[in-house]
Amino acid sequence: MNNTFLSKSETETEKLAGLIAKALPNGSVVALHGDLGAGKTVFSRGFARGLGITEPITSPTFTILQEYNFSAGRLYHLDLYRIDGPDAALAFGVDEFLYGHKGHTLIEWPERITQILPESTFHIRLERSEIETVREIVMPSALASLLK
Ligand SMILES: Nc1ncnc2c1ncn2[C@@H]1O[C@H](COP(=O)(O)OP(=O)(O)O)[C@@H](O)[C@H]1O
Ligand SMILES: [Mg+2]
Repeated sequence: MNNTFLSKSETETEKLAGLIAKALPNGSVVALHGDLGAGKTVFSRGFARGLGITEPITSPTFTILQEYNFSAGRLYHLDLYRIDGPDAALAFGVDEFLYGHKGHTLIEWPERITQILPESTFHIRLERSEIETVREIVMPSALASLLK
């Protein structure tokens, strides 16, 4: 079962992501689904802020991976837009971030590697609405319940 949250601004999306970051155990893998401009990177920024990371957060579209340190561990931010599929991702060494449990892993364009995502992956979907600044954020109820 899923829960849907309405975000009315970039800031609201960041806040929700920050709460999720604080609620998740270290070593969690979070798949961020949604089209270009849906807010995956905005969500990632809020997630990082929730962990206490203050560095600028941008989509690692060209570098694929960006690592950040925070007091209690590490955040790995992956953008797989330019990755063709699981083989290319594995050649890049993605299994270390999916299965290494060395820190939180956030994945933009997780559809590229559906076949090799851990079963424990938290899937979150961001969707645009008719209103330019409103997003629907859909997550499993189990995750939503951690926020209450
Ligand atoms: N409620 C909202 N939540 C997140 N982003 C929003 C929202 N409303 C407008 N935006 C804008 O949508 C864009 C999302 O961009 P980005 O996070 O880079 O998307 P993606 O990484 O999914 O391609 C940003 O320009 C942001 O300011
Ligand atoms: Mg992005």
